[in-house]
Amino acid sequence: MAIEIIATGRAVPPKRVTNDDLAEKLDTSDEWIRSHTGIGARHIADETVASSDLALEAAQKTLLWAIESGSVQEKTITRLAETIDLIILGTTTQDYYGCPATSCIVQGKLGAKNAAAIDISVACSGFIYSLETAAGLLLISPIRKRALVIGAETLSRLTDWDDRQSCVLFGDGAGAVLLEKTQAPLKGQKKRGLLRSILGADGSGSEHLMIRRGGSRAPFKSGETVDKAPSIEMDGRAVYNFAVNAITSTIENLLKEEGIGLKDVARIIPHQANARIVQAAGKRLGIPDEKFYLNIEEYANTSCASIPIALDELNRAGEFKKGDLIMTVGFGGGLTFGGNLIIW
Ligand code: ACO
Repeated sequence: MAIEIIATGRAVPPKRVTNDDLAEKLDTSDEWIRSHTGIGARHIADETVASSDLALEAAQKTLLWAIESGSVQEKTITRLAETIDLIILGTTTQDYYGCPATSCIVQGKLGAKNAAAIDISVACSGFIYSLETAAGLLLISPIRKRALVIGAETLSRLTDWDDRQSCVLFGDGAGAVLLEKTQAPLKGQKKRGLLRSILGADGSGSEHLMIRRGGSRAPFKSGETVDKAPSIEMDGRAVYNFAVNAITSTIENLLKEEGIGLKDVARIIPHQANARIVQAAGKRLGIPDEKFYLNIEEYANTSCASIPIALDELNRAGEFKKGDLIMTVGFGGGLTFGGNLIIW
């Protein structure tokens, strides 16, 4: 069997906040942010918009694309939604703490009444983990055929807007892909779909990136007064060093395990956390900058959403040819890391 991506979609909030906008309220500058991260702007969701709202919009656009591109026989989003067996949603910013799962909210509003729904919480590696999890759950079952994989975030809700080291990095958005299980290629035919993935973690570095308050380790107590809302706390330098090593080794290992060379890969889509992280990893491996797709200048770090947003941009721009080998690679809090090799 093969697991193929048959459609993509994305949702990005219309409100665009530039570096200059941030510099009006914070001791920072467009020059510092661009030179240290490659970020020029980020999109921020309205107060009434939660992660599931962005996820739902990305999902609906994905289904519409599948219908309009003739990838499915169903003619309406409603009918197509009913054929989905599984929704896997990577997010760090669930609508509600613990329960219900954000994927369940999306499942209900999308009308995907035959789908199981699972959230995956591995910070920015969420889409990479979700893709592999969905593929595994499709392959293991004779019944499941279609899965919707979504990365969705409203990181602006977990951002300390007074912390100039972290707040300049994050943005909101969602991206999605529709997966379909198809017949394995016959002898002599080319391979298709998700070829392999690497998923990894190093929990010994969990303190480098965390949201300290609100969980079972440090719950809020009734009557307690807090100065600040819970937010992402980060040792930027430690995460940077981990990220460069994780990206470098994941690219090397994916190529080695598949028995291919860099020349076989059409495009690498990295998690968009910091352009310098990607450039440093590329330099170590002798990969030219053009091989990596970067859109961080416009969206900043949208965590689980960054890779599917990039996939959708490239797909809709007609940048992928059938048979192209695409690599995703990323890292996140946890600490986690991983990558996927996909034949388009
Ligand atoms: N504007 C101006 N100056 C700043 C800013 C800012 N926004 N932020 C930090 N500085 C200052 C610091 O105060 C420091 O000043 P000092 O030398 O006077 O003390 C100086 O700039 C250098 O600070 P560093 O922290 O050493 O800067 P660095 O080059 O390491 O860049 C950064 C910081 C961008 C955070 C980098 O370390 C990084 O990208 N780390 C990885 C972050 C990441 O990818 N996180 C993933 C989180 S996603 C997730 O999983 C949810």
